[in-house]
Amino acid sequence: MAYRVLAVGDTVGSPGLEYIQRRLGAIRRELNADFICVNGENANVVGVTPRQADAILKAGADCVTLGNHTWTRWEIQPYLDEEPRVLRPANYAPQCPGRGLAVFDTPAGEVAVINLIGRFTLDPNTDSPFLTVDALLEDVQAKMILVDFHAEATSEKIAMGYYLDGRVSAVWGTHTHVQTSDARILPKGTGCITDLGMTGPAESVIGIKPEQSIGKFLGDVPRRYECAPGPAKLEGALFTLDEKSGKCLEVRAVRYK
Ligand SMILES: [Fe+2]
Ligand SMILES: [Fe+2]
Repeated sequence: MAYRVLAVGDTVGSPGLEYIQRRLGAIRRELNADFICVNGENANVVGVTPRQADAILKAGADCVTLGNHTWTRWEIQPYLDEEPRVLRPANYAPQCPGRGLAVFDTPAGEVAVINLIGRFTLDPNTDSPFLTVDALLEDVQAKMILVDFHAEATSEKIAMGYYLDGRVSAVWGTHTHVQTSDARILPKGTGCITDLGMTGPAESVIGIKPEQSIGKFLGDVPRRYECAPGPAKLEGALFTLDEKSGKCLEVRAVRYK
């Protein structure tokens, strides 16, 4: 039997969150998705509040992953200890709250989700995502294993795809907010895309007002990021998995206006 997983790129600001709340249910039905994982690290533009993470779950996400903005809002710390469906990167230091692995019981069997963060030009103060995922996989029994690798460099993300090829069902990249056109199945059966893109304002510089972003590059005094207004788009990828073997049968990028 085929099991369909929708992975949704970074949800940015209220345009992105409102889009998820308004459209995710219909998109789930249209794609016949069995499981939805949404990256939520930018729901508060930088970071996410417990209320925003709850809103993404209530809108239909089975799992929410995060990234380098995890700790921006302090109130997320106790929440991450209490809500097992919201993950922070697993390779943060062990004293950090929350977890980077969740296992879901589904009618098709267990589905495991692992969230990792890259080190190349992003966060060097983390453990190796490669060695961390090795250690996590030793204890995972699920056949269907999904990995959100939140990283800046395309090279690091593609390397992770090959590193995990044949050991997990899907590896998708998040963080850059720009969807890549390389969705494919790797030689040993892992579905892979370098970046899902984002769910947020369509006319923006990765979610931010273009004039503010241009000003930054012109050398303006730094100021608080302002999210661009809507309308929003949703970007991600749909992975069709064989639920018995966990191999990826088909993968394609998706985009909704
Ligand atoms: Fe990020
Ligand atoms: Fe992001």
